Amino acid sequence: MFKNKPLLFAMLSIVLLLSACGQQPASSSQPAKDGDKPAAQQAKESKLEQIKKAGKIVVGTSADYPPYEFHKEVNKKDEIVGFDIEIARAIAKDLGVTLEIKDMKFDGLLAALDTGNVDFVISGMTPDAERQKSVDFTKIYYTAIQTVVVRTEDKDKIKSLDDLKGKKVGAQKGATQEKIVREQMPASEVKALGKISDLMLDLKNKKTEALVVEQPVAAAYLSKNKDLLISDIKLKNEDSGSAIAVKKGSAELVDAMNKTLDRLMNDKSIEKLVAEANEMVE
Ligand code: ARG
Repeated sequence: MFKNKPLLFAMLSIVLLLSACGQQPASSSQPAKDGDKPAAQQAKESKLEQIKKAGKIVVGTSADYPPYEFHKEVNKKDEIVGFDIEIARAIAKDLGVTLEIKDMKFDGLLAALDTGNVDFVISGMTPDAERQKSVDFTKIYYTAIQTVVVRTEDKDKIKSLDDLKGKKVGAQKGATQEKIVREQMPASEVKALGKISDLMLDLKNKKTEALVVEQPVAAAYLSKNKDLLISDIKLKNEDSGSAIAVKKGSAELVDAMNKTLDRLMNDKSIEKLVAEANEMVE
């Protein structure tokens, strides 16, 4: 019947070719649809999915900040505790994943977020305008005021910002307190160090004359350091709330975290966690 084989072959080839062409858009319709979404939206979906798939979420923190996050020996083992850590645990639980904690210097936290070394940062971190340019933040879950800590023996000598002119004032490196010293005490010299514990030591050892730190942290350190106290000096408190940071473009993750924060704030759990953490401070 088909005597003209070359012709038949040519015809079949054309049919196959046409149908192949016709199928192409159909077979690639899934990715094409996804490709229509803005890149940021695709990325954020995969971040939350990735975490759920991994069954684990990694948090970065600077555990030198009682009652937010600090080291404590529990059953002869060194543990990182504090109300931030309890909030991180509640978030992990709500996501149905386990929590891994990475302790690092405060000024390395946002870089760790950027490289993917951690999935989120909880560290009493203030969502100031500069940081908002590079990371996304949840809502503020806790607010504290700024204080100036001095040696008890200097309490009558250092009562105003003027008294600190030409003097060294400590602040945590990369923290808003470093900026506060530079902006609100331009006549003082800032000494910025990575860890709050080292800053407290510097003040005790008279290497600095004062230290700017948030009130709850000052109170926690001072409970075991009677040679230090909170001075009467008042600072401006524009940026003083704490929020959780995630990599930019992770809106779904932020939404999920905000839900947990809402719950913990509405039922007053955060206040309870702060009180419990304060009790753990020796
Ligand atoms: N709230 C300040 C800031 O965001 C200080 C936070 C310091 N946190 C810490 N865990 N050492 O810069």
